[in-house]
Amino acid sequence: MDRSLSLELVRVTEAAALASSRWMGRGKKNEADDAATKAMRDVFDTVPMKGTVVIGEGEMDEAPMLYIGEKLGNGYGPRVDVAVDPLEGTNIVASGGWNALAVVAVADHGSLLHAPDMYMEKIAVGPEAVGQIDIDASVEDNLKAVAKAKNKDVEDVVATVLNRPRHAELIQRLRDAGARIKLINDGDVAAAINTAFDHTGVDILFGIGGAPEGVLAAVALKCLGGEIQGRLVPQNDQEVERCKRMGLDVGKVLRMEDLVSGDDAIFAATGVTDGELLRGVQYKGSYGLTHSVVMRAKSGTVRFIEGRHSLKKKPNLVMK
Ligand code: FBP
Repeated sequence: MDRSLSLELVRVTEAAALASSRWMGRGKKNEADDAATKAMRDVFDTVPMKGTVVIGEGEMDEAPMLYIGEKLGNGYGPRVDVAVDPLEGTNIVASGGWNALAVVAVADHGSLLHAPDMYMEKIAVGPEAVGQIDIDASVEDNLKAVAKAKNKDVEDVVATVLNRPRHAELIQRLRDAGARIKLINDGDVAAAINTAFDHTGVDILFGIGGAPEGVLAAVALKCLGGEIQGRLVPQNDQEVERCKRMGLDVGKVLRMEDLVSGDDAIFAATGVTDGELLRGVQYKGSYGLTHSVVMRAKSGTVRFIEGRHSLKKKPNLVMK
């Protein structure tokens, strides 16, 4: 992959973030998602790559844009797998909450897990605790391992968990172990990435969220030198069947290499609403301001990019 693809992907996430940010706090998650998807789709046409969506907005019959199997890019350049989440945190934008992102990941063709749209159990950490976690070990043992790796007490470890009834036992065990807990309402991609940035204060992510989000987080953590382990959690017989048809082993622990193989991958995200890592979109006079991160696994380079977008010159916020 050409390194200049990184900046092209930021153009994609910026457009999605700008478009969906207009819906902040309006209680309309579908409209926010549609705006992000359309803007993202438009910019993809200008990107020099031969991409195929492997993680997207749904199957061809249910998603008019960015569906799985859709070809993206201008038809020149590298053949790549593309994972998109034009708006990660639809409810977050609808309520003006924290950590909504527009997200894209690209990797060499054939290297991203084709994760079905179902749940995945996850555990994720940043670089200091790589090799120390084990999704099959107890919550308590994982907390101790992370505490040891980060040279702190379990009482000082901060674990992020999606605040869901399915996590009642997990949350109780974290409390009993004495850990500090950050309960989030949505957005476990940002939560996984935050484990790799010291200033966020977050040490580990536990719990069940979306499988597509698990693959996106894996690409980011690969670039950042962190780690995520996952396991698909089908909710009914149809989902079990779906896994079988896709050749996926339901009980298998999915490690970094299973989620994103090979040496190279690029991850880009733009903040839609404010978060620990990225500021959300702001409007100042005739400009829209964006804050993005883009990173590449091969080089390990991580860039934060501030964008100033002229609302006069690009009234629809998409420059072709
Ligand atoms: P959406 O943007 O699709 O609404 O996903 C937000 C999210 O919170 C993800 O970050 C997370 O992986 C998933 O939903 C959790 O699913 P659920 O809301 O069903 O618990």
